[in-house]
Amino acid sequence: MPYSVILAHPRPGSLNHALARAACAAIEQHGGQARFHDLHAEGFDPLLPAAEVARDAPLPPLITTHCREIAEAEGIVIVHPNWWGMPPAILAGWVDRVLRPGVAYEFLEGDAGEGVPRGLLAARAAVVVNTSNTAREREARVFGDPLDRIWKDCIFGLCGVAKVRRRMFETVVTSDPATRREWIAQTEALVRETFFTR
Ligand SMILES: Cc1cc2nc3c(=O)[nH]c(=O)nc-3n(C[C@H](O)[C@H](O)[C@H](O)COP(=O)(O)O)c2cc1C
Repeated sequence: MPYSVILAHPRPGSLNHALARAACAAIEQHGGQARFHDLHAEGFDPLLPAAEVARDAPLPPLITTHCREIAEAEGIVIVHPNWWGMPPAILAGWVDRVLRPGVAYEFLEGDAGEGVPRGLLAARAAVVVNTSNTAREREARVFGDPLDRIWKDCIFGLCGVAKVRRRMFETVVTSDPATRREWIAQTEALVRETFFTR
């Protein structure tokens, strides 16, 4: 069974890279196939060109591959740091270009785009792993934890993936190696429990 693992972090060797690798390892340990994309390493172009907006637009081969993989995925893992309460721009652009109409969602007949779309992704569940430097209580109280709504409601909920498990690991900047190892172990456990435990 294929699982998509999408990583958005510019620095090889980062905690985010370790968390994404842990997710891939957990998938492979349970007999799944981890299809891993390090968007920075790939040089993924996040700019959605005008020519790709239409539902039936011809797509470049790389985008076609991403679309096919995300449509086939049994489960999806997203790993990224909290940047201004948003995913890094490279990942926002991946969402723009890959979670397309006809791939991730569609509007019902007679709906020009003003109504409630139907989700098309086959994935049973998604895992979102975030890192940040803001304490959990302050993130919730002051900012409202926007990443929670973005991934659960605005993106996966709309695309038909109802089960979304998310963790935000903080505070990275003051964390010690033992804490980071614990976060890596928690990521493996989250992937196992979300995708492979009945
Ligand atoms: C452009 C940018 C924006 C950031 N915005 C936030 C933010 O809004 N809230 C926060 O807690 N941390 C913010 N950070 C800190 C990152 O979340 C933090 O460096 C990252 O989670 C650490 O993970 P890493 O060790 O894998 O790099 C920001 C960092 C950068 C570079």
